[in-house]
Amino acid sequence: MITVIGSLNMDLVTTSPRYPKLGETVLGSDFQTIFGGKGANQAVAANRVGASVQMIGRVGEDAFGKDYLKYLSDKGISIGSVEPVTHSPTGVASITVADHDNAIIVVPGANFDVTPSVIESYEERIANSEWLLLQMEIPMESIDKAIEMAYQHGTKVVLNPAPFQPIPASWWEKITYVTPNEHEADLLVRDEQFEERFLEKLIITLGEKGVCFYQDGNKKTIAAPSVTPVDTTGAGDTFNGALVSSLDRGLSLQESCLFAVHAATLSILKFGAQTGMPTKEEVEDFLLKGGV
Ligand code: RIB
Repeated sequence: MITVIGSLNMDLVTTSPRYPKLGETVLGSDFQTIFGGKGANQAVAANRVGASVQMIGRVGEDAFGKDYLKYLSDKGISIGSVEPVTHSPTGVASITVADHDNAIIVVPGANFDVTPSVIESYEERIANSEWLLLQMEIPMESIDKAIEMAYQHGTKVVLNPAPFQPIPASWWEKITYVTPNEHEADLLVRDEQFEERFLEKLIITLGEKGVCFYQDGNKKTIAAPSVTPVDTTGAGDTFNGALVSSLDRGLSLQESCLFAVHAATLSILKFGAQTGMPTKEEVEDFLLKGGV
């Protein structure tokens, strides 16, 4: 079982021919309301490739929250630990898609009601999981609590440090893998508290260049197949969900990274964070063909 503790956002996505400059108005070409949030995206990605996933999170008692719960349970993701709260709205992300890239502002809302005491109340679920997958769209003290509880129970932890904040030195010992992008990795490694021995815990996503990790003192890079992206939103989340589900299936780190890079590449061929997330069979077919 993989447990994902994290955010559920409604993504308010505007497509525009280009990004407006500060103070400028441009005419957009499309607007859509779609399910997102790094936590839920990663849970859906893992579920799509066949993993057994339970989600721990919070939504508002509003239309976005109700729609989200129905959507997740229709997908077969266990939502017994995603409770609606009355005092905060469901988290939202304002996303602009332009120039084959995206820009995102997240308003956490109910995601910040995932407090340390909420985490504590799910100790059994964390203890009974093989893997715990975390991002940073819930309070840092709750992530701290979750990592500590997982460590005490021998549950392996993958932390996707996004949106970036410096991470406490005490976390490194307790985490199995940290999955920053290039920019986040640079900030992590430059932190004066970072120790060389933790390098082998890093799995660094390189966007269109693929992924790299360190093993037996060597840096290994896995290239991503070349494609023309439709929407890169959620590519990192697809990578994380697919990575943990492959590790959970017993694949090696190298095999898991290869699978996850191909899953992430497929995900950017469709619009929306979750829409393009592939099934296990689609990724395996893609791997066999060596591209689109
Ligand atoms: O990683 C993409 C996600 O970041 C979006 O779905 C948005 O909700 C933000 O959390």
